[in-house]
Amino acid sequence: MYHIKRKRLVMPKVENSSWFFVCLLAMTALVLAGCTDMGNAVGTDTSISTPPPQSGQDVSFQSQISPILQRYGCNSCHGGSGGLTVQTVSQLLQGGLHGPSVIAGKADTSGLIKKLLPNPPYGDRMPQGGPYLPDSTIQTIKLWINQGAKNN
Ligand code: HEC
Repeated sequence: MYHIKRKRLVMPKVENSSWFFVCLLAMTALVLAGCTDMGNAVGTDTSISTPPPQSGQDVSFQSQISPILQRYGCNSCHGGSGGLTVQTVSQLLQGGLHGPSVIAGKADTSGLIKKLLPNPPYGDRMPQGGPYLPDSTIQTIKLWINQGAKNN
């Protein structure tokens, strides 16, 4: 009597934990893939730890904006499987379903900024699921857009 009961109790647990491991492995693989991706471009990034540049100084897409987008995982969801892609300036200008994400010179009306701030006009705040960008980082992106969204 007893050992039959025990079998019934133990078996499903073993199955559950092996599924858990499979999921864990898959997630680890995804995270590692993501990190390798970021590692390549983040090398020269200093924008997160330094205060936003004063207006008058040009914000660089290559060395500041692009690494921010990579660091916050934007590329992992907007990396080219349809809709918005965030690798280049021209892709950002082109945007996604809701039109251009970046409007040069107009940070406040740019979809990218609206989606980074709380209470976006549609859908979720980005990056979906957080962690969200600190204000100073959003300011850096705004400055880059208001300076003309240069591919610099
Ligand atoms: C976990 C996946 C995920 C991550 C990470 C993510 N996004 Fe998104 N993003 C989505 C999805 C899904 C949508 C469409 C639904 C919506 O608007 O909420 C979207 C929509 C958008 C849009 C609107 C595009 C359009 O025209 O419809 C912008 C802009 C955007 N994301 C920017 C970003 C930026 C910038 C980051 C990084 C800071 C980011 N996203 C990170 C999943 C993600």
